[in-house]
Amino acid sequence: MALPKDAVHQASAHEPFLMDCWYVAGWDHELIDGRMVARTILGKPVVLYRGESGRAVALDDRCCHRGARLSHGRVEGDCVRCMYHGLKFDATGKCVQIPGQDNIPPRLGVRGYPTVERDRLIWIWMGDPAKADAAGILDFPYLRDPGWRGHPGYLHYDANYLLIVDNLADFAHLAFVHTKTLGGSEEYAFKSKPTAIERLDDGFRVERWHLNAAPPPFHRKVVRDDAMVDRRNIARMYVPGIFFMETMFVPAGSGGADKTAPDKAAGAKQYRNCQFFTPESATSTHFFWDYLHDYALDDPNVSLSLYHSMVEGFNEDKAIIEAQQKTLEADPSFPMHAIVADAALVHFRRTLAHRIDAERSALKAVA
Ligand code: FES
Ligand SMILES: [Fe+2]
Repeated sequence: MALPKDAVHQASAHEPFLMDCWYVAGWDHELIDGRMVARTILGKPVVLYRGESGRAVALDDRCCHRGARLSHGRVEGDCVRCMYHGLKFDATGKCVQIPGQDNIPPRLGVRGYPTVERDRLIWIWMGDPAKADAAGILDFPYLRDPGWRGHPGYLHYDANYLLIVDNLADFAHLAFVHTKTLGGSEEYAFKSKPTAIERLDDGFRVERWHLNAAPPPFHRKVVRDDAMVDRRNIARMYVPGIFFMETMFVPAGSGGADKTAPDKAAGAKQYRNCQFFTPESATSTHFFWDYLHDYALDDPNVSLSLYHSMVEGFNEDKAIIEAQQKTLEADPSFPMHAIVADAALVHFRRTLAHRIDAERSALKAVA
């Protein structure tokens, strides 16, 4: 069975991005001590810095004079000065000083992008600034909840972001890609079935139980207990590439699709995972993530161990996905063949493609 045409949607250099939505541009700790971050987002070089007032500023990383990088410049108050010929730009990108020239053309400047900081994440709006409404930012309360502890992470992928979304749309890959890290055994792919794939207007929700299994290595490392467990994963993926997962381990026999295992069931150990995929280009991606736990909060080594386990696991994904990217680029006409487990990723790609089409049609209508 070949995938429906609109779902094949391979990464190509001409693939459009959804513009009118919030993307994660960075973690707040990246801007400490006056640091400037140069980061390409949706193909646009952007400079990020924190001005004197404390706000995170995002501007085009290209001086409007001769194209020097503003990220090689100097922060002055909330402004940045290009260190080539000294033009100074305010936090909106407007040129406010030209050394040796009194008259500043009123429209001279670089593009500024709306930003919002929430729960240690810096969000950026790359589309029409008039539509930037912070209410549209997805909430992940665990990042600010003292009942959870994590460790923020970042990875760079040489692959289109949708290939990473595909990877997360099916937990069956845990069994084969992450056998010795996050998965635990190949049996996971055969014995656990998604109990529900819920198609959402802006993504999907998948739930999967794995009953009476040995604890996977990343969990066993921190709990130091080999007792069999029931494991529940509930994952949600939202447009344009935001993934939230709730994981719960309970003693074997106390969970199951036919039972309601309360979140705080005796012996339950839980995790909350957020992952944010921001396209750098059509063939590369910024990946921001955190993996939080709700027990042993006074032991920093638990979050550190989990962080290292995740990095190990994500690098396993990265090796497969970056090679897949190269293979797909080599032959864009390659027809993929769908299996039942692809239902969620097919739905996601359709949903995203419709949103992008709608955005482009609206732009054409205005033009
Ligand atoms: S290139 Fe920036 S001031 Fe000349
Ligand atoms: Fe994975």
